[in-house]
Amino acid sequence: MKIILTGATGVLGSQIMYEILELFIRDSINGKLLLISRSKGKKSALDRINKLLSSSYTPKILKDQGLEKLDQYIEIIDTDLDSVQENFSSKIDGAYFIHSAGYVNLSTDEEHREKIFDENTKITKVILNNFHHSIKKFIYIGTAFSSGERTGIVENDFHNLDFIPQHRNAYENAKFYSENFVAKRCKDLGLPFQILRPSVICGRLMDDENKYFVSKYMVFYLLAKFFYLAAQRTTEQENVRFMINEKTGLNIIPVDYVAKIIVSVFRRDDIQQLNIVSHKSLNLVKGLELIMDEMGYKNYTIIRNAPHFEYQNTTEKLYYESIGKHLKPYLVTSAKQFNTTLLNSILEIPVLDDETFTQLIRYAKLHKFKDVNI
Ligand SMILES: NC(=O)c1ccc[n+]([C@@H]2O[C@H](COP(=O)([O-])OP(=O)(O)OC[C@H]3O[C@@H](n4cnc5c(N)ncnc54)[C@H](OP(=O)(O)O)[C@@H]3O)[C@@H](O)[C@H]2O)c1
Repeated sequence: MKIILTGATGVLGSQIMYEILELFIRDSINGKLLLISRSKGKKSALDRINKLLSSSYTPKILKDQGLEKLDQYIEIIDTDLDSVQENFSSKIDGAYFIHSAGYVNLSTDEEHREKIFDENTKITKVILNNFHHSIKKFIYIGTAFSSGERTGIVENDFHNLDFIPQHRNAYENAKFYSENFVAKRCKDLGLPFQILRPSVICGRLMDDENKYFVSKYMVFYLLAKFFYLAAQRTTEQENVRFMINEKTGLNIIPVDYVAKIIVSVFRRDDIQQLNIVSHKSLNLVKGLELIMDEMGYKNYTIIRNAPHFEYQNTTEKLYYESIGKHLKPYLVTSAKQFNTTLLNSILEIPVLDDETFTQLIRYAKLHKFKDVNI
């Protein structure tokens, strides 16, 4: 079996890489995993991948094999995806192509819009156009956020709707556009495809190994980090007002569950689109309370969405001029639920209750919100 994977140095891609290698080992598959990864500073793509395969957070089953054995399954194509050329046809003939690389950025800043849109859409077009001749199937990792603003129950199909979804930022819009491109282009080419969409990714939860680990702290972790640092900085905590729709929630899903689902379903012909999400979203008022309690920041108030909002102090200004402005569209959004029947039938969705959420942010705090340098 041949699999090509992009984004293996990322939060999710690294866990997909682990799951694929585990699949090869456990099922004694004579597999080849081609990783399209780039170098970073003085570190080659090989250095970066080898670090992922030999660190304290590497799954034991892989570490026990040793790098030499693992490297036999792997081939690395050291290149930026912007400029990737398809000149290794024989190697990739009949491969499943899992495209997990992406530019995750929830910025609402106008000046970043074009870059976020281009980075996410251009790469997908380049690789699909360059690789479609030889591959067996194209698997695109989207995001449940590409649903846009919705209410009620959200189904797995986002591309046969009788309305155009309204997106909250360039990232959501770009991911939706890329999904659409993949679906249309693959249909035209007669190439099987799959679109798999995680919601907001959190640390590992599926077993006790490396529990709560995640290589980069994003989205709700960034809010926690802001108030962790604010609580450390001052003794007198200034009041911060949060505009929140009290009915809404954030759908969060553990990274190892997402990777397990992707590796369980990529060969299934009966699944073309699938949201990889929790049954229930975490209520935002409760989530904020848990975060602020854990970070030790006590002085905050929840208010309704206010179009005119003057900052009442420096902490509030700092918050809304940094992470706050990008998260705000998610805090005031309408409540929605996902239909998780199909997903749960593949692998039971772990429950993310208040206690588990607290443990996740406590773990991040203990690690001072430091991302792993891969
Ligand atoms: N994180 C989330 O909460 C979340 C939620 C839903 C969906 N997703 C989707 O899941 C996928 C993976 O996200 P992630 O969380 O793993 O993101 P991430 O941690 O930011 O990793 C992004 C990956 O893409 C690679 N990449 C980006 N541009 C590239 C380029 N031009 N050439 C080569 N590699 C490039 C990065 O390589 P470098 O390491 O070299 O930069 C990295 O491996 C994305 O498609 C994202 O939209 C993520």
